[in-house]
Amino acid sequence: MIPEAHDRTGTFSDAAWSDVISAVDRTYSELVAYQEQLEAQNAELDELRRFMASVLSSVSDLLVVVDQEYVIERTGGAIDRVLGPKHLAHPGAMVDDLVVDEMREKLRCVIDQVIASQEAVTLEIDVMTDAGPTPLELSVGPRLDERGRSRGAVLVGRPVGELRSAYSDLEASHAALKEAQGHLVRNEKLASLGRLVAGVAHELNNPISFVYANTHALEKYTSRFETYFEAVQSGADRNALIALREELKLDRTLKNLRGAIDGAKDGAERVRDIVEDLRRLSAEGSGETVSFDLMTTARTAADWVIRGTKTPVKVSFEGGATRLALGNPGHVQQIVMNLVQNAVDVLAEKEDAQIHLLVFEQDDTVLLHVADNGPGVPTEAVPSVFDPFFTTKPVGKGTGLGLSISHKIAEEHGGALILFDTGPEGTCFELTLPAGGAT
Ligand SMILES: Nc1ncnc2c1ncn2[C@@H]1O[C@H](COP(=O)(O)OP(=O)(O)O)[C@@H](O)[C@H]1O
Ligand SMILES: [Mg+2]
Repeated sequence: MIPEAHDRTGTFSDAAWSDVISAVDRTYSELVAYQEQLEAQNAELDELRRFMASVLSSVSDLLVVVDQEYVIERTGGAIDRVLGPKHLAHPGAMVDDLVVDEMREKLRCVIDQVIASQEAVTLEIDVMTDAGPTPLELSVGPRLDERGRSRGAVLVGRPVGELRSAYSDLEASHAALKEAQGHLVRNEKLASLGRLVAGVAHELNNPISFVYANTHALEKYTSRFETYFEAVQSGADRNALIALREELKLDRTLKNLRGAIDGAKDGAERVRDIVEDLRRLSAEGSGETVSFDLMTTARTAADWVIRGTKTPVKVSFEGGATRLALGNPGHVQQIVMNLVQNAVDVLAEKEDAQIHLLVFEQDDTVLLHVADNGPGVPTEAVPSVFDPFFTTKPVGKGTGLGLSISHKIAEEHGGALILFDTGPEGTCFELTLPAGGAT
């Protein structure tokens, strides 16, 4: 009930006064609380504004916020640095004043489009700067209010020159990297070529020295027959000729002659076979996919490596007759040579060094295990062995590309190369290839 404010004499009663005073008090303290709240919010806003300003000023791109009428609301980022003191952009100015005349219409169209579609658009545009028209890569995005309606657009730009120079720096370092990589790949190729040549040289040396020794013998035999024929020519009598034949051991020489010719022929044939092998290897390097016997290829590869090394290693093969795989035998031979070479390398100091090659079939694949009884791959190196350029060998000895190239070749064949097992007892790599059909 509203207290009666006036008594009959027309003055305020005490109760009425105290109600008024307490109402004033309440209103006042509510005002104070409201004022405090406002101040706190103001301080918060101020802090936020300073924070935003410092963030915006350290953005390396230029920022322009415009409304729907293309009027600049705010600027920030590197805008002053990009435009220069004479072309500063001020809030309230039209955004198309920033760009060269012939691009004004285009900019307005893009802003309209972004506001309508609420989707960002990127364009290249020339802005007026103290240094003259400068191309900018400009991304125009929509500025939305809290209800998701377009209120204008935010333009973020960066001089194309900076982008181009950053890009060309990137290109240059990429090219340098590729060059270095190519160099290393060439080194690895030379290293495997070196191994191959060492093997071939060793292999050729035997039959050639054989041929050489036999031609020496043939020379000696020829001069004996010459002496005899001269005696015949000069009319020596029968007895003298018989004695001379005895003296020159012509009967034995004749027998040896045949042997020497056969030996020289054998040696020459061996040389021919080796050359044929090499010819096939290089022809098979041409990229043709065929069905081939993995066992034979593995054997040839291991033989080439072992012949070129001074490390005494016992190499054994297991896997029966033919195991046909599908691929490029020349490339697969490269993989096996790399694996065997790595095994030989870790066995250099080892007594009773052994390498075991096993070929077997599993489902639609043919597998090759190359196992050694070396010290194993160090635990910390296991995840890296297939990485290009990863090597634990001294400079000049290892390129770290053997396994990564082999891995790539295996994958190109639709197969795989994995580190199957390693430990103090030795290491085993497993090569998987698709099985080949009957040739
Ligand atoms: N059979 C193996 N036993 C132990 N470590 C091996 C074996 N094969 C490869 N590795 C390790 O993997 C590394 C990379 O081999 P690879 O790619 O062929 O390069 P590289 O032989 O030039 O070092 C070798 O340096 C070695 O540390
Ligand atoms: Mg290697």
